[in-house]
Amino acid sequence: MLALCIGALILISITSWIYKWRNPRCNGQLPPGSMGWPLLGESIQFFTPNTSSDIPPFVKERMKRYGPIFRTSLVGRPVIVSTDPEFNYFIFQQEGQLFQSWYPETFTKIFGQQNVGSLHGFMYKYLKNMVLQLLGTESLKKMLPEVEQVASNKLKQWLCQDIIEFKDATASMIFDLTAKKLISYDAEKSSENLRENFVAFIQGLISFPIDIPGTAYHKCLQGRKRAMRILKNILQERRAKPRKHQTDFFDYVLQELQKEGTVLTEEIALDLMFVLLFASFETTSLALTLALKFLCDHPLVLKQLKEEHEEILRSREDANSGLTWKEYKSLTFTFQVINETVRLGNIAPAIFRKALTDIHFNGYTIPAGWGVMVCPPAVHLNPARYEDPLAFNPGRWEGLVSNGASKHFMAFGGGMRFCVGTDFTKVQMAVFLHCLVTKYRFQAIRGGEISRTPGLQFPNGFHVQIIKKDEKDATYNSKCL
Ligand code: HEM
Ligand SMILES: *[C@@H]1O[C@H](CO)[C@@H](O)[C@H](O)[C@H]1NC(C)=O
Ligand SMILES: *[C@@H]1O[C@H](CO)[C@@H](O)[C@H](O)[C@H]1NC(C)=O
Repeated sequence: MLALCIGALILISITSWIYKWRNPRCNGQLPPGSMGWPLLGESIQFFTPNTSSDIPPFVKERMKRYGPIFRTSLVGRPVIVSTDPEFNYFIFQQEGQLFQSWYPETFTKIFGQQNVGSLHGFMYKYLKNMVLQLLGTESLKKMLPEVEQVASNKLKQWLCQDIIEFKDATASMIFDLTAKKLISYDAEKSSENLRENFVAFIQGLISFPIDIPGTAYHKCLQGRKRAMRILKNILQERRAKPRKHQTDFFDYVLQELQKEGTVLTEEIALDLMFVLLFASFETTSLALTLALKFLCDHPLVLKQLKEEHEEILRSREDANSGLTWKEYKSLTFTFQVINETVRLGNIAPAIFRKALTDIHFNGYTIPAGWGVMVCPPAVHLNPARYEDPLAFNPGRWEGLVSNGASKHFMAFGGGMRFCVGTDFTKVQMAVFLHCLVTKYRFQAIRGGEISRTPGLQFPNGFHVQIIKKDEKDATYNSKCL
């Protein structure tokens, strides 16, 4: 009898727990949707890989069923998903007031509790200003010749190799440049391969947080540990032997760290270096790889791109003088190609926020404390805004009037948290394409298939051959000159 009573009690509490899970409390009307299984929520559906470039099936199905704003549960958190341009805009504009940047625990574990994306208020503004020292326009202007030099050297090296895996090769190119700017890291002279610790990061970043050997998440955390150890060692070395002149970003950070009454802590400084190292190369190399793939598949676009860059050389006195800032700024078609690539790339498949108070929008209430996920792919692939949205058509940007953070373009986010690396990415991409199309041709050999988990990946890489422009056939490549 007692056992039966206890059994019934357990059953009742489990049922009521499940009922509560499925019907969360809310002082108003929750957006429609399903909370999925207890704890697990709908995480499995969300993380299921898919090879399509369209709006992730998880989002698309629910948009059809529930409309543009719906509720779900991901990695143990109740979340409102927004595919609505007006609501997205509202979310970005209300940063720090009604919403706050918030990332799932996987992010904070990997990037550190004190990473720039998780900071708010004064500390956030302070760090952002520091980052702009490195990635602001003035700094990029100075960096331009160096970026061109690096790209040009790399291409020469790749010419000597039969086939290169483009994703990895560009990742290494960009990483080495950033690491040099940040910590004077010299990949060729260093005993430790710093970049190795960042490989396979995208997979782990938006993944299910199970920290056991073999999972993507586990690999990510191990990589972070090793990279942080290297950064810490550098910090200690420099403290022990202060350098006279500031030569890299770390020197500047150390200076700030030693100022009297500074708000900066060692932990925040190290997290910042880590985030910048990661953000700089993984995102941009994905974008460049995708751009190259699109150019392989669209010879007419490639032709037009080539013409734009050859015109630059033609109008110079000395065709071999380096790319100037003014020339860079004049690359209209190149920027259209870049816009179109990142629109279709959806390298950031989700942007996360947290509701700070109960928020009312279009008759719905979002309870305080809930996560909010802005879904850029739904905006970028909306046929009402972009005709034939899955087609690669850089020309569609022609004459499209919009200011930086448009409601229909959020590849780099929007509002106060707009990506600080946007211009850096554009410089990297445009300069690389300039060096590539003015001196070389290229040929896709194999790979190039994409997968989304939901982050963009090239599971088989993208293997290409770089060929001298004036050679008819790769077999006669007079290489390595
Ligand atoms: C194709 C390349 C890139 C894409 C698609 C991209 C995308 C984004 C997006 C969507 C955000 C907004 C996140 C949010 O609102 O929560 C963001 C923020 C950020 N990005 Fe990028 N990014 C790229 C390149 C870079 C590069 C090259 C760097 C640095 C070297 C960088 C550093 C950052 C940082 C530090 C933030 C946080 C800014 C803040 O919280 O205010 N990104 N990025
Ligand atoms: C991807 O999504 C589409 C559309 O929902 C679906 O038909 C397809 O089976 C999915 N799977 C793969 C492996 O692409
Ligand atoms: C690329 O997109 C941004 C954001 O919408 C816009 O401001 C810019 O003008 C676009 N560039 C080109 C060349 O169309």
